[in-house]
Amino acid sequence: MPTVRLGFIGAGGIAGFHLQNLQRVPEAKVVAFADPNLDAAKQRAEQVGLPAREGETVFGDWQLMLERVEMDGVLVLSPHAHHFEQIVAALQRGLHVLAEKPMVVTSEQAQKVVLAARQAGKQVVVSYQRRFTPVFRFIRDQVHKGALGELTFVEAVIGQDWQQLTQGTWRQMPELSGGGMLMDSGSHMVDFVLWTVPNAPVKVSATISQCGAPVEINDIVGVQFSGGALGALIAMGNFTHFMERYTFVGTEGAMWLDRGQVVWQPMGGEQRVVEAKELPPASTPDRHFVDVVLGRVENMSPPEDAFKVVTLTTAAYQAAATGQTVAVPSLPA
Ligand SMILES: NC(=O)c1ccc[n+]([C@@H]2O[C@H](COP(=O)([O-])OP(=O)(O)OC[C@H]3O[C@@H](n4cnc5c(N)ncnc54)[C@H](O)[C@@H]3O)[C@@H](O)[C@H]2O)c1
Repeated sequence: MPTVRLGFIGAGGIAGFHLQNLQRVPEAKVVAFADPNLDAAKQRAEQVGLPAREGETVFGDWQLMLERVEMDGVLVLSPHAHHFEQIVAALQRGLHVLAEKPMVVTSEQAQKVVLAARQAGKQVVVSYQRRFTPVFRFIRDQVHKGALGELTFVEAVIGQDWQQLTQGTWRQMPELSGGGMLMDSGSHMVDFVLWTVPNAPVKVSATISQCGAPVEINDIVGVQFSGGALGALIAMGNFTHFMERYTFVGTEGAMWLDRGQVVWQPMGGEQRVVEAKELPPASTPDRHFVDVVLGRVENMSPPEDAFKVVTLTTAAYQAAATGQTVAVPSLPA
């Protein structure tokens, strides 16, 4: 069996999720952790039974890890504003990258990552786990097959007790986070909508509010897609708990996801709950990353798509700041 050697850049909360996923990927071998909080790196090493030797398997400096450790890929799991430098440095060292969301915090950075990956001939898989989750994949596949006819409207809502949970952390420091609820958890909503709607977004209007925080907490984003469909994307960053809901309306029917269940109703027809046996199989970003590194499958979550997410997010911030409708640029060829 081939082996894919992996290093972690960032050993915080989400590192636990990736380690859990990687336990079920027999080809994956975690060989090093880097985190300025060396204790966090050591704890993660111990968690996977890797002897914690500073300068060999655990590092306070991620650049030293890239210089010293023989690896095939890295997972970039640091605060948002660090991702760009770390992803590009890893690519330039000939490594593949699994990047947490948001891949980067500006459109220009996203464009540079796309170029760096092409120049290096290496893959960047962005960790949007909904792309590997059966209910989300089902809706996306049906919309792309035309099961709802031509899309006319999309409503997306994501809510979380985000303001309460992230108070005093890097997530509320704009220089580290690049934004608030929409840039962070809202990134999943933006990605799912853009991945599912076949047409590109062309214009955005937005209203946001900071609710006394240093970054935005609540967002109302209006999107016009080429072809005429409209999108209403709502992020509620001071809700009571985590929730998300999506409704896709087309000329031939509607499909919505609420509390984990997909409901489908053809125009003029009966509503029905989509059964578990109709859904595609589950996977994880980590299983997919290793398969991509081994050349077994096409990258299902490429940096070109993450460019679209950050471009729409920052266009929404600009629209909110100026009170104007903002055009959404596409990735230059
Ligand atoms: N896909 C998801 O659902 C999901 C969920 C949670 C977090 N995330 C993403 O994962 C990333 C990390 O989030 P988290 O929840 O683990 O945050 P966290 O605050 O729990 O951990 C961040 C870690 O990064 C370390 N760090 C700080 N600066 C660093 C640097 N320059 N280089 C390397 N490490 C550095 C910190 O010491 C800390 O250990 C973010 O991009 C976040 O958006 C994704």
